[in-house]
Amino acid sequence: IRQDYDQVSDYMASYIRDRILEFNPTADRPFVLGLPTGSSPVGVYKNLVKYHQNGQLSFRNVVTFNMDEYVGLPRDHPESYHSFMWHHLFKHIDILPQNVHILDGNADDLEEECKKYEENIKSFGGIELFLGGIGPDGHIAFNEPGSSLSSRTRVKTLAYDTILANSRFFDGDINKVPRMALTVGVGTVMDSREVAIIITGAHKALALAKCIEEGVNHMWTVSAIQLHPKALIVCDEDATLEL
Ligand code: GLP
Repeated sequence: IRQDYDQVSDYMASYIRDRILEFNPTADRPFVLGLPTGSSPVGVYKNLVKYHQNGQLSFRNVVTFNMDEYVGLPRDHPESYHSFMWHHLFKHIDILPQNVHILDGNADDLEEECKKYEENIKSFGGIELFLGGIGPDGHIAFNEPGSSLSSRTRVKTLAYDTILANSRFFDGDINKVPRMALTVGVGTVMDSREVAIIITGAHKALALAKCIEEGVNHMWTVSAIQLHPKALIVCDEDATLEL
């Protein structure tokens, strides 16, 4: 528990930095990092950029896989997760473009795209560290309430609550929010060797309580991390209101 969003971001960014630095990459085994979008990781990305700019951290041996992407939103739309990731992180660091992986929500065959994504993750030896945020309803990536806890990367229809929450990025107009997304599954996240989740704000207090104080429950999909051998939640004081 840290005091506020900035302290959460500082803690999580330095944690990720240290994990990358202590990892011994080889040609066939880079550091594979799973990444989220949303407002939760923006502060972490700012810090990672700062570490890169002051020479503390290189991403030359880092391969990334993003959690999710909207279906049907043009890749260069300002709210696509492609745009988000390049804007907040990738264009500021020395990651090799071929090492960046983001689901293509405009692929002709979406199911094939999801299948390929899972295979691609495996081809790099799996994800070392999956960073995540959650929705106020406890969803991780776009694994909406009711998602199977063993789900894999797939097409998902967004819950009304998610459309409402994300409409703030689309001029507050729920009609502009895509109705579907591609998302890694809860099972995909759980397969990573480590999971690190950011939870901040009073509006996520109930989700944090459900996640760690109640049982594993597919209606609060982030609660699956109770079964993970190496899981970390970094939250702020506001998010602890219901604990
Ligand atoms: C979206 C993303 C999630 C993210 C959530 C929370 O639904 N698909 O991965 O965790 O938003 O966003 P924020 O961090 O802005 O609260």
